[in-house]
Amino acid sequence: MATERTLSIIKPDATRKNLVGRILARFEEEGLRVAALRKIWMSKRQAEGFYAVHAARPFFGELTEFMSSGPCVVLVLEGDDAVAANRRIMGATNPAEAAEGTLRKLYADSIGENAVHGSDSLENAAIEIAYFFASSELT
Ligand code: CMP
Repeated sequence: MATERTLSIIKPDATRKNLVGRILARFEEEGLRVAALRKIWMSKRQAEGFYAVHAARPFFGELTEFMSSGPCVVLVLEGDDAVAANRRIMGATNPAEAAEGTLRKLYADSIGENAVHGSDSLENAAIEIAYFFASSELT
């Protein structure tokens, strides 16, 4: 197994529901380590930049409105196979399809307001981490 880093975002629905501590605890209980962490309130423009790969999708406006509707916690998780581990812990994008016990099954309301984001590949993890953090902030 390789040690990897991946980007996680605790989204505005989850911060509104006061779930930050519970979600962070879950990552740590599952063996991932927090390598960097910041609470931010993204502008619409910042959310559009982060999700630029989805710019042509019909839900892009809704997604970026939501992501800039309140504070998020952005963090870097580190550990064995961290990209896949984080995706397993989050569950499917749509909470209706997420496995029992996953963060999205437990805490998400809809496909749009789905509590957490996680990088989908090691390549995208590097791009997404660099969007929010300088390498000097990763410890
Ligand atoms: P995330 O993992 O942050 O990556 C892209 C996001 O787009 C995804 O989670 C969902 O929240 C959102 N998304 C995907 N499909 C839809 C959809 N059909 N309607 C609204 N939002 C969506």
